[in-house]
Amino acid sequence: MNEVIKNILSRRSVRNFTSKKVSDEIIETLLQAATYAPSAKNGQPWFFSVVQNKEILNKIDDVVECLRGGSIFYGAQTVIFVAVQDDTRWGLCDCAAATQNILLAAHSLGLGTCWIGCCRDELQGENAEEYKKLMGIPDGYTLSHAIAIGYSDETSSIPSRKDDVFSFIV
Ligand SMILES: Cc1cc2nc3c(=O)[nH]c(=O)nc-3n(C[C@H](O)[C@H](O)[C@H](O)COP(=O)(O)O)c2cc1C
Repeated sequence: MNEVIKNILSRRSVRNFTSKKVSDEIIETLLQAATYAPSAKNGQPWFFSVVQNKEILNKIDDVVECLRGGSIFYGAQTVIFVAVQDDTRWGLCDCAAATQNILLAAHSLGLGTCWIGCCRDELQGENAEEYKKLMGIPDGYTLSHAIAIGYSDETSSIPSRKDDVFSFIV
């Protein structure tokens, strides 16, 4: 099995992180990996805001209650908010492709990640503009989801996979 396939199969969502900081160099590599994802008509309708400011992450945590008790970012020191350009047909798909690039690149560099979707609805409510400023999301973009990133402090087991989701027509 080659290294790419091994990396895909061994990536797991991580929900406990150590306090070790992720270097700027690694963050830059992850962002580069994100922007090399495919996108419809090469529109690249995404924006990535890297937040490492504890006060801001705590503020966002305080308004989001999707995970009762505990931090929605699982204590990660680095969170990337992924925003999608407004009025794009395939924007969410493009952002998802970019996100998977980040998750896989991070895993290959020894980091753990968790895709955080549950914050979206609560951060898109009536105070959305205020939250966007807090997250560093510019006008013309809307939050899609977040990615918690850090060094894993757990051994995560492999969640089961469905095995009846293929068909072959030959
Ligand atoms: C669109 C999307 C939203 C997700 N939202 C959350 C979330 O809010 N919180 C969380 O802990 N995990 C979240 N996850 C991670 C999934 O729970 C996880 O990928 C799934 O259980 C499979 O586990 P694995 O990533 O280890 O393969 C999300 C994943 C996706 C793709």
